[in-house]
Amino acid sequence: MMTNHGVIRPATTADYPTLYRICLLTANAGSDASALYSDPDYPGQRFVIPYARFVPDFAFVLAVDGEVMGYVVAAPDTRVFEATLRAHWWPALQAKYQPRRPDAAFDENILAAIRQPDTAAGQLVAHWPAHLHINLLPPVQRGGWGRKLIEHELTALRAAGVSGVHLGVSLQNEQVCAFYQRMGFSHIVRSNAIYMGQLL
Ligand SMILES: CC(C)(COP(=O)(O)OP(=O)(O)OC[C@H]1O[C@@H](n2cnc3c(N)ncnc32)[C@H](O)[C@@H]1OP(=O)(O)O)[C@@H](O)C(=O)NCCC(=O)NCCS
Repeated sequence: MMTNHGVIRPATTADYPTLYRICLLTANAGSDASALYSDPDYPGQRFVIPYARFVPDFAFVLAVDGEVMGYVVAAPDTRVFEATLRAHWWPALQAKYQPRRPDAAFDENILAAIRQPDTAAGQLVAHWPAHLHINLLPPVQRGGWGRKLIEHELTALRAAGVSGVHLGVSLQNEQVCAFYQRMGFSHIVRSNAIYMGQLL
């Protein structure tokens, strides 16, 4: 459905509750993961909020009639971002979640990543130093907003002098690779996820 009342604007701290929600509603390979996490904030703690907090110049939301319906976030330098989170984001969560045990199907993915934060493969960051995440709620999917959000992000990354960007697609969400291909991304490698990239 194409809607004409959307605007893309920088994310603010007031958007955080909505960012958590959109992340949860798209965290099951693009679909609702509410039943798969015992804490609705788990996926957002990993996949969206740290970006809005530590690299806010690259965090954008789509607001339709004033309601936030999607986002795109990016880290312009993945290695710098990883170091920032090791220093300023993961320690507090490690302390907070220390007593937590996995209670729902996907909990352990997040709890393990908090206990032992992962790092992007050297091959990825060597050629495509930035990475991004994009998610739209179902009512605004397939209406051209994904393209507009990606273009907005790529423009911001280019303006910052970034030379390349990668992303990871869940093995269960492979069909979405067609979207990224149309946005100029090519396949890099298939491992724990499908990694795609483009030079800027
Ligand atoms: C994936 C997503 C960001 C795409 O945004 P969108 O607004 O739906 O896509 P657009 O309408 O801008 O489509 C742009 C182009 O990609 C194509 N496309 C979009 N989604 C597609 C899909 N799932 N499969 C195949 N092609 C797709 C469109 O047909 C369009 O092609 P065209 O330019 O040739 O007409 C959005 O659908 C979404 O957030 N989905 C759920 C969460 C998700 O899977 N996120 C990605 C996690 S890696």
